Amino acid sequence: MHLLTRRFSFSSSHRLQSIAMDANGNTCAYGLCENIHGHNYRLEVTVSGAVDPATGFFCNVMDLSAIVRETVVDPCDHRYLNDLPMFQGVVTTMENLASRIWQVIEEPLSARGMRLVEVLVGETDEHWVRLRRPPAADGL
Ligand code: NI
Repeated sequence: MHLLTRRFSFSSSHRLQSIAMDANGNTCAYGLCENIHGHNYRLEVTVSGAVDPATGFFCNVMDLSAIVRETVVDPCDHRYLNDLPMFQGVVTTMENLASRIWQVIEEPLSARGMRLVEVLVGETDEHWVRLRRPPAADGL
């Protein structure tokens, strides 16, 4: 199976704050990340598909780029993530960002023949989160 990955970046601010915890709980869980701060986020989107013998590829990487740019990168870049509709109701951790980004891009990618396999969200060069589609019964 072929996989194709496209890397994106955007610069955004956020703060970690959960309504499920009191002030002390938030401070204990998030520390300095409770304050508004920023990251140069790294986003990597990986898709798979059936290779078209005519073109030799299974998707046009520029289609992938345009979809992710329009739905995620442009709305997030130079914004305060906590205020964005796409992240309402969740704490803006890398885990939750990856989940919401998955929800936003899966359908438009699928409509262009791309099966979403993995979303990677990184806040720094030292840590990142990967959200992966569980393997199907047929191993794909
Ligand atoms: Ni942060």
